[in-house]
Amino acid sequence: MCRNHVATRLQPFGETVFATWSRLSQQHGAVNLGQGFPDFDGPPDVIEAAHRAMVEGHNQYAPMPGVPALRQAVALDFGAATGLAVDPDADVTVTAGCSEAIAASLLGLLNPGDEVIVFEPFYDSYPASIAMGGGVMRTVTTRPPLFGIDLDAVRAAITARTRAILLNTPHNPTGHVASREELEGLAAIARDHDLVVIADEVYDRIVFEGRHLPIASMDGMWERTITLRSMAKTFSMTGWKIGWAVAPPPLTAVVRAAHQFMTYAIATPLQYGAAAALGLGDAYYTQLQTDYLARRNLLCDGLERAGFGVHVPAGTYFVMCDHTPFGFANAEAFCQHLVEHVGIAAIPPGSFYGDPADGRDLVRFAFCKTIPVLEEAIRRLGRLMG
Ligand SMILES: Cc1ncc(COP(=O)(O)O)c(C=O)c1O
Repeated sequence: MCRNHVATRLQPFGETVFATWSRLSQQHGAVNLGQGFPDFDGPPDVIEAAHRAMVEGHNQYAPMPGVPALRQAVALDFGAATGLAVDPDADVTVTAGCSEAIAASLLGLLNPGDEVIVFEPFYDSYPASIAMGGGVMRTVTTRPPLFGIDLDAVRAAITARTRAILLNTPHNPTGHVASREELEGLAAIARDHDLVVIADEVYDRIVFEGRHLPIASMDGMWERTITLRSMAKTFSMTGWKIGWAVAPPPLTAVVRAAHQFMTYAIATPLQYGAAAALGLGDAYYTQLQTDYLARRNLLCDGLERAGFGVHVPAGTYFVMCDHTPFGFANAEAFCQHLVEHVGIAAIPPGSFYGDPADGRDLVRFAFCKTIPVLEEAIRRLGRLMG
């Protein structure tokens, strides 16, 4: 028998669900609405800026916290979104995507046995990153149709060991955009119990209803919040893996304590590209929203016509649906049928829950695809009923 060399704390996680379903998608020649990567390129000016940086010789290690041009652009962008005075040197750290920012925040913050409150369904790197940090995850479940935050459940999940709340808004996979009431409630809980909030805001620019409100801008929250963002979704550059953490110096120290030994510094020329991206201005963001709104409406209408119960998202480029009208035992069985016989890959969300049974009735589709690809998927959905 083959010996399992994987550390005990990482054994429960296995292969990520995205790798599994992308492989199946390829095997079956399916339209891949599983993993959340755009099938189109980001802005040409941004690519050109990174290329120019390479040609101009920006090819050695970047400074550990990030190149100054990008940190300045992040400070301006975050300052404009929150009204906070952000210091590019003291408050900003560039990371290998938001993924590294999540891991660095948790590895830098947690002592063994510290607890982190996470809303489920969760992004699948959260439990693994908490485990790597030696922490313990406490989940609070959000439920359809609204997937709202139950503040009483959050209060009930707090113990003497609670160290942080890991919040994601706009939320993958549910598309929920936290309301002012929800955020003020969470902020009050964090203040009352002296908790750190790690705010994963990678979808901050993809909002269709309501407004994204950064929790760092709420009363007394700047000093206890680490905000994480990334180029991946906003600029359709998931392959660049450029993200950043914004936090006051004591919490920036937390991020950098881990970051300096995990990656030390991030791809230099791509940071110049990211700085150019943040300079594109409002017209770019307006177009991004318009394009995603059209894609959301197209796919949601198609899914509804095909017979799904559709939980139309207020933000992000994902939509959660109820697949039970089709009579399959669970989400895996449904997704297996979908990829093999209908030619569409989607994600069964069981691994986004502490208890996979909570995601049994749901399936996640991504609509970060070009209109012809979404139209082809909708055409194939016709096979579901046939
Ligand atoms: C909620 C959430 N956080 C973080 C990430 C990872 O971001 P990055 O690609 O910048 O590492 C993703 C990517 O899908 C995500 O959905």
